[in-house]
Amino acid sequence: MDKFLIQGGNRLHGRVKISGAKNGALALMPAVILAPGIYHLHNTPNLRDVWTMSRLLGSLGIFCELNGNDLTMDARQISSFEAPYEHVKKMRASFYVLGPLLARYGWAKVSLPGGCAWGPRPVDLHLKGLEKLGAKITLEQGYVIAEADKLKGDRFHFDISSVGATGNVLMAAVLARGVTELTNAAIEPEITSLARMLIKMGAKIDGIGTSHLIIEGVETLNPVDEENIPDRIEAATYLIAAAMTKGRVELENTNPYHLSSVIEKMEETGCNIDVNGNKIFIEMDDDPKPINIKTSIYPGIPTDVQAQWTAYMLLAQGNSFITDSVYHDRFKHIPELQRLGADINVVDNVAIIKGGKKLSGAIVMSSDLRASASLILAGLVSDGVTEVLRVYHLDRGYESVEKKLENLGASIKRVKSEMI
Ligand code: UD1
Repeated sequence: MDKFLIQGGNRLHGRVKISGAKNGALALMPAVILAPGIYHLHNTPNLRDVWTMSRLLGSLGIFCELNGNDLTMDARQISSFEAPYEHVKKMRASFYVLGPLLARYGWAKVSLPGGCAWGPRPVDLHLKGLEKLGAKITLEQGYVIAEADKLKGDRFHFDISSVGATGNVLMAAVLARGVTELTNAAIEPEITSLARMLIKMGAKIDGIGTSHLIIEGVETLNPVDEENIPDRIEAATYLIAAAMTKGRVELENTNPYHLSSVIEKMEETGCNIDVNGNKIFIEMDDDPKPINIKTSIYPGIPTDVQAQWTAYMLLAQGNSFITDSVYHDRFKHIPELQRLGADINVVDNVAIIKGGKKLSGAIVMSSDLRASASLILAGLVSDGVTEVLRVYHLDRGYESVEKKLENLGASIKRVKSEMI
């Protein structure tokens, strides 16, 4: 198992190219189930979650090949309608295949994902939405079995705005008979991007970019070439890395608009940020001002940036509060940050950070993807060497992270570890 050795203290400077969005690719890839043919998805990040989705689609009969960042998916023949536990347990986004399989074939069997590292993550809204379109859902031995001769359009309101449930129900609705109206649908850029791809495939969707989607079902769809959006969470992580190390960094291949809330908050901490087309330049000379954040659905501060922001606020001279209103238990990184010297208390879903404490390198353990990112960020500014174990979590969502950080001047090395 790999680990990272990070020698803290280097300022980051230079340019970094942001990869295609992990969560974008994971939403677009299952859409190929909806129509036979060959698809090309450009700007696909080469990372573990994309490999997992490729393997899952492969098990359905869809051959996937990643060449650089161009993904070819051959969906001419689908031979299985089942997503086994071995794939779904590795990645919850595997659940995305349920809606399109059901819509196209009238039957699908998909393993239930179960909980995740930081707590329960239900899929009730995915199932309720599909039921509203006429699916019969049964649960058997850890699997969801969904059946419907032909899905029928209807109205469905998401009690909670959910990225995954919106994606799933949307992919089902495009082939349903009649009109589907979704309210309180997610408006995250990854969902908007999925809706755009579906329209390119021939779907009829109104209200893109809003929480009110009106979908008129069509009989068939066509394969397409599509460009994946840039990864806004990876971009936010590099912005924070630059600010924490008092660096000067230019991010290329971003969509700054998707990062508006993060950029705004970073400016409040004292960063100087310039946006030029798809580039973002950041420089920071001082310790950040303590700024409170509360995560929320898009366009708010993403919960996927909460752990990295926590690392950032360790450097502030003063107290700050970080509230996660999306995932209330997402604080697995905190005990590990405490091992580096952080002074943080968690009360309910709020982390209270007393910034300005000295951080010194230690061995720390990744528990999930964004927690790993926060440990690396803290390692970049800790005295001495920080060893981050279990970096396979990080490999799920950050393409070439050590190369990108090294190019920016960080001292970070990947080594094999005996320790688990
Ligand atoms: C997606 C992202 C993940 C991000 C999350 C929130 C992907 C592959 N993953 O996850 O990185 O952290 O959005 O932005 O895109 N909920 C229910 N019932 C459901 C579904 C969700 O109660 O059926 C709740 C969740 O517990 C959570 C909230 O809705 O509190 C939002 O979750 P959701 O948007 O569904 O997250 P994911 O799509 O799983």
